[in-house]
Amino acid sequence: MTSTHEAPPAGSALSPVPPVPPEEAVTPLIRGIAVLRGLTDAGGAATLSDLGRATGLARSTVDRVAATLARMGYVHLDGSNAALAPRLMELGNAYLAALRLPDLLSGHADALADALDESVSLAVADGDGIRFIHQAIRRRALSLSFRIGDLLPAERTAPGPLLATEWSAQDWARWRERQLADPEDTGFPAIPRRAHDAATADFPRRVEEARLRGWALDDQLIEPGLVALSVAVRTPDGRIACVASAVSHTSRHSADSLRDSLLPGLRTAVTTMERELAIAPPPERLSGPNGASGASGPDALKGLMGPTGLAAWTSASKQELGGEFITSLARGLTAITAFGEGRAELTLSEVAERTGLPRATARRALITLQHLGHVTVEGRAFRLTPRILSLGFPPLSKATLTHIARPHLTALTGRVKNSTSLAVLADDHVQCALSVTAGRIMDVDIAAGSRVPAYATSAGRVLVASLPAERRATWLAHVRLEALTPRTVTRPTDLEAILERVRDDGYALVDDELEEGLRSIAVPVRDREGVVVAAVNVHMHSGRGSAAECVMDIVPELRATADSLEADLHVTGRFVHVPVS
Ligand code: PHB
Repeated sequence: MTSTHEAPPAGSALSPVPPVPPEEAVTPLIRGIAVLRGLTDAGGAATLSDLGRATGLARSTVDRVAATLARMGYVHLDGSNAALAPRLMELGNAYLAALRLPDLLSGHADALADALDESVSLAVADGDGIRFIHQAIRRRALSLSFRIGDLLPAERTAPGPLLATEWSAQDWARWRERQLADPEDTGFPAIPRRAHDAATADFPRRVEEARLRGWALDDQLIEPGLVALSVAVRTPDGRIACVASAVSHTSRHSADSLRDSLLPGLRTAVTTMERELAIAPPPERLSGPNGASGASGPDALKGLMGPTGLAAWTSASKQELGGEFITSLARGLTAITAFGEGRAELTLSEVAERTGLPRATARRALITLQHLGHVTVEGRAFRLTPRILSLGFPPLSKATLTHIARPHLTALTGRVKNSTSLAVLADDHVQCALSVTAGRIMDVDIAAGSRVPAYATSAGRVLVASLPAERRATWLAHVRLEALTPRTVTRPTDLEAILERVRDDGYALVDDELEEGLRSIAVPVRDREGVVVAAVNVHMHSGRGSAAECVMDIVPELRATADSLEADLHVTGRFVHVPVS
């Protein structure tokens, strides 16, 4: 059997090859995490053979690990290709929710980005690196944007010198060791290779300067053109909670002009953030297994979806899970989901209680996670570390609704044997964001990007029906209703009554109104806040069976698809804005 540490997974250069795992460590969990990190560093997708090379694991091991992760909903497997799945973000969400800083500060960071018209980020220390926990990005032609979870070497950033003011002698020793072990920064897949050593040589001086001034600059240390200015956000006891940065480009600012023009605004925003931390009520401590007690808001939602990875597979029998399924890997990852909002610190018993894992299993999982640097322990209290975000968060936080929807629509098309699509409202029209055709000879083919009048389509009716009453009334008052076929509903009062019904029924069916012979049926897709953001629909020829039969057969399939898409969307959208495309 191949040793797990023959070839350390990419990205581990910053932590030299870990020492031999403790005796009680769970080897399958170590391997599962190596595969997840390999996929993350590869940008979210890789072949199983490439994963074997990146992790040093035997191909048969990679296959079993990937099959287990697929069964947990953490990766999509398509033949010998593996891709990270949105549900994996529940691990990073557990860390970010426990940390609380994104919930408390991201609104302030977003407001600052609006005020400065520059990208703003929040970062925390991760060993001798910095890791992003929030990004408020201004899209520009020239912009290099990092993602939540990306790890950068401290010495090549603006937040780094501030965070290094709190480093111990041991941290400095680790930093020096890394300079020798990884002189080109290959352990940091988010950034270009290091071209020269100026940043390293200068780093101790920049740390002292940051200590004296309270701010730090990055003048193109990551790449030519990129400049950043940072100020530390401190807790009432004076420790650094995170670092806020404004990021720009030399086409707009030199490093000096960035400091001169943005430092006052950045400082004011940081003062507001510090006040927010000072007045934040202590998190309500939640207890009881699987958020049973006192869950509200996002946690209540989580409860509906199955609060932990455990719920997704523990109810399945061994036979259903298949011979490939590695229970100890699934259980180990499940331990991570015990943490969250109001559960930043947990004892072993609490982890066991919340996940339903036997105490001995939870203990070995925590020992393994601690060995890998994903968990720390102080006394009896375990905590997640920012390294949890290296399990998929950066590539997955780029996901769009279209990207998330594709596997769900593909599965739906396979079940109903008709073309399906995802549509959004664009003024008077619905725009097709994604379409999956069934491949019939006579197929309904709606091209992604195409637009059709909303009033004559099922998706349009579902989307308009869900608008707040006032906007719906305005929409109805302005829309021009034309007879596209003899059956198109063109009387506003008729359309209004239909929309009322659609809202009550939760679906819309339209026959022959856009085009003769075309039937479409749609249901709404809701985001975490319950706002309808898209519609999923099935298209077919209207001659195929009665409308009533069609409702009976197709609507449950559509609803099941929307439910599973929403589950993914709600996990992805917890800390990240999910655009349509
Ligand atoms: C940096 O270059 O130091 C930097 C880049 C992007 C950020 C923050 C800092 O969001």
